[in-house]
Amino acid sequence: MMRAVTGSWWRILTGSGWRLAVLAAFALRPAAPQTLPVLLGLDAYVPAPESNPLKPERVEVGKALFHFRGLSADRSLSCAGCHQPERAFTDGRSQATGVRGQVIGRRTPPLINRAWGKSFFWDGRAASLEDQVLQPVLNPKEMGLSLEEITRRVREDEVLRAQMQSAFGREVTLEDIQLALASYVRSILSGDSPYDRFVAGDVSALDEQQKWGLKLFRGKANCVACHVGVNFTDERFHNTGTGWRDGRWLDQGRAGITGRAEDRGAFKTPGLREVARTAPYMHDGSLKTLEEVIDFYDQGGRENPNLDTEIRKLGLTLEEKRALVAFLHSLSGKVREGWPGAP
Ligand code: HEC
Ligand code: HEC
Repeated sequence: MMRAVTGSWWRILTGSGWRLAVLAAFALRPAAPQTLPVLLGLDAYVPAPESNPLKPERVEVGKALFHFRGLSADRSLSCAGCHQPERAFTDGRSQATGVRGQVIGRRTPPLINRAWGKSFFWDGRAASLEDQVLQPVLNPKEMGLSLEEITRRVREDEVLRAQMQSAFGREVTLEDIQLALASYVRSILSGDSPYDRFVAGDVSALDEQQKWGLKLFRGKANCVACHVGVNFTDERFHNTGTGWRDGRWLDQGRAGITGRAEDRGAFKTPGLREVARTAPYMHDGSLKTLEEVIDFYDQGGRENPNLDTEIRKLGLTLEEKRALVAFLHSLSGKVREGWPGAP
C-alpha cells in the first residue's frame, strides 16, 4: 500500500518535473527578435518595401521555398541548386545550368546583402526582389514552370502549404510566394569580416599586406570609383570590356534593357563581400581567380568602343597586386540567412 502511494507520488513529481522543464526551456529560449538583426559593418536596418515588411514567418517559409525542388519542371532543381549557401550562394560554374542541362549564358551571382540592391540581374532588368524572384522559375531555360503550376506545386506540398497559410493567413497565392522568396533573399547577410573589425577600430584585424591592399583599393588602383560603400558597389552599370571579344559584343549587357548604344557591354557593379569564395568571376565567369581579376584591371580592362572612363592601365607591381588580392580576402566574414531564433 505504502509503496503504491510513493510510486504514484513519484510519478506525479517526475511527470510534472518533465513538464516544468519543457516550460522552463520555452521561457528561457530567447524570443525571436522583432527586427532582423544585422552584422558588424552593415547599416542598422535591413530595408524592405512597405508592401512586404520583413517578418520571421515570411523569411522562414521563403527559405523553405528557396530549397523546394518542386519549383522546377522536372523537380530536379531548387533555387539553392544554383545559389548554394555554402558557396556564398553561387555554384562555382562560369555559366549557370538550368533544367535538362540547359546552359544559361551568364554566371550565377552571389546573393549577399541584396536587401540594399537597387536593381537585379547583371543587366539590372528587375527593379525589386519581388519582381526578380519568380523570373528564374518561369524561365524555360532555368526552372521552367508556368504561373499556374507554381501555385499548384506549392499547394500540393502539405507542409509548405500549411507554413504559407500560417505566414500569410490565407490560401497560398502566387503573390505570397513572391513575397516570401523576396523576404528570404533579403535575410541573406554577410558582415563581421576582418575588414569590418578593422573599420570598427581593431587595428590588428587586417595584416600589413591587407592594409596596403586597402590603401591601393582606395587610391592607386581606383577600385572605389565603382566598388564603393558598405557593400562595395555603386549599384550602377559600367563597361569594363568583359562583354567584348575579337571585335564584337558577346553580351550587350545593360543595352539589352535600355536599347541605348552607349550601354552596350555595361554590367551592374557586383558587391565584393565574400568575393574570395565566389570564383569564377564576372557576368560570364571568364576570370577564374582573383589574381586574374587584378591582372585584368591592371591591363586597363579590355579595349572596346564603350570602355568606362574610370578603367585605365594601372601599372601595378607584383607586390601591389598581391596586396590587393589579400585585401579582397579580408571581405569574407560571417554569412547569415533566415531569421535568428525563429520557431
Ligand atoms: C539555373 C541556376 C539558377 C537557379 C535555379 C536560380 N537562379 Fe537566381 N540567378 C541565376 C543566374 C544565372 C542569375 C543572373 C542572370 C542574369 O543576370 O541574367 C541569377 C540572378 C538572381 C538574382 C539577382 C541577384 C543580383 O544581385 O542581381 C536573384 C535575387 C536570384 N537569382 C534569386 C533566385 C531565386 C529566388 C531562385 C529560385 C526561385 C533562383 N534565383 C534560381 C541562376 C539561377
Ligand atoms: C568602372 C567601374 C569599375 C572599376 C573602377 C572597378 N570595377 Fe570591379 N567590377 C565592375 C563591374 C561592372 C564588374 C562586373 C563586370 C562583369 O560582370 O562583366 C566588376 C567586377 C569585379 C569583380 C568580380 C566580382 C564577381 O562577383 O564576379 C571583382 C573581384 C572586382 N570587380 C574587383 C575590382 C577591383 C579590385 C578593382 C580595382 C582594381 C575594380 N574592381 C575596379 C566595375 C568596376
